[in-house]
Amino acid sequence: MQYAQITGWGKCVPPAVLSNADLMTFMDTSDEWISSRTGIQERRVCHCNFSDMAIVAAQRALAAANLAASEIDLILLGSLTMDSLCPNTASIVQNAIGAHNAASIDINSACTGFLYGLHIGTNLIKTGAHSKVLVIGGEFISHYMDWARRDVAVLFGDACGAVVIEASPEPTGLLACKIGCEMDTTSAIQITNLGSAYSRLDKDFVFNGWNFEGQEVFKRAIKAMAFACGEVLAQTGLHIDDVNIMVPHQANRRILDALAKRLGIPEHKVMVNVHKYGNTSAGTIPVALTEALEEERIKPGDYVLMATFGAGLTWGAGLVKWGERVTPLATSDADLPPCEQTGLEILAPHIARYKARQEE
Ligand code: UT7
Repeated sequence: MQYAQITGWGKCVPPAVLSNADLMTFMDTSDEWISSRTGIQERRVCHCNFSDMAIVAAQRALAAANLAASEIDLILLGSLTMDSLCPNTASIVQNAIGAHNAASIDINSACTGFLYGLHIGTNLIKTGAHSKVLVIGGEFISHYMDWARRDVAVLFGDACGAVVIEASPEPTGLLACKIGCEMDTTSAIQITNLGSAYSRLDKDFVFNGWNFEGQEVFKRAIKAMAFACGEVLAQTGLHIDDVNIMVPHQANRRILDALAKRLGIPEHKVMVNVHKYGNTSAGTIPVALTEALEEERIKPGDYVLMATFGAGLTWGAGLVKWGERVTPLATSDADLPPCEQTGLEILAPHIARYKARQEE
């Protein structure tokens, strides 16, 4: 039996910070509202392309696994904020890192993109079709934000993470996974005005809009993630007490608390970094996983429970058994181009544009 062990991990968070106080300078909101409703204190704003973050995260994950890019035979990239519709961004990453033996596939399932990718990559390794796979998840969501919408704009941030999975005889890696999609809620989280369903003749064509039913998503997120976690525990015959750490999608601190309570997992076993980055969609799990390792919260042989939820509405959970190694084999000096601007300075022209449109 073949398994797909996680042998490398890496994150790339852009340096420019956008705090709750920054949002208060152009939006009718408060630090008190954002902190108490979401747990978010600040988020990051990307100053370059999405692929730049994906390339850096990928290079750091490859270094941690001590692999050359040429050894990778598949790149799976989960995101909804790709550089362009064509070519796909996985191929841009492939070219930049020199992974000339890799097939390159984008996965657009929003926040669940990383776990969907880990599931697909793991099973392609298990069948013997591939042996070394790079799974990336991340988002440049500030690019698509409607800065006139306070109920959405305060929630999200930009970041990217990546893991390397490799064929292994050891029973490690993603041992069980349950993914799904609720079929009656496609418009509960929706970016409008971009895509071939929207008229090119509309004067607003280039302005993204958002449909976002926060409370509906909130309720469904807890229910679906709890269900999916129950399914993967049942598949493996494990009890929630066997889980050493949960690394869930980071959308809202209240969702994490409610999920943990429903599952019966104590707070100290739940990885939380939503206060630093907000919701980075497909980036949340690989970034949180990397930080859990950096903080030495994952030990050899640990059971790591992942849960995720996002637009679609897509959902999932996965149970990972960690291998023997919890430290990187090497480090990479790959980094983003320098950034002299604050988050607010990067966003200023975009905010002005949305404000002017609102006042038309
Ligand atoms: O990754 C995809 C998954 N996404 C999620 O899981 C997000 C799920 N949803 C949520 O996290 C929460 O529903 C929100 C954080 C989005 C909203 O929290 P809530 O407790 O459900 O607030 P609400 O929607 O009930 O809004 C309450 C009030 C409203 O005012 P009124 O009508 O009661 O006067 C809003 O207009 O809060 C107002 N409000 C704000 N006030 C200050 C909405 N956004 C803001 C804001 N600042 N940014």
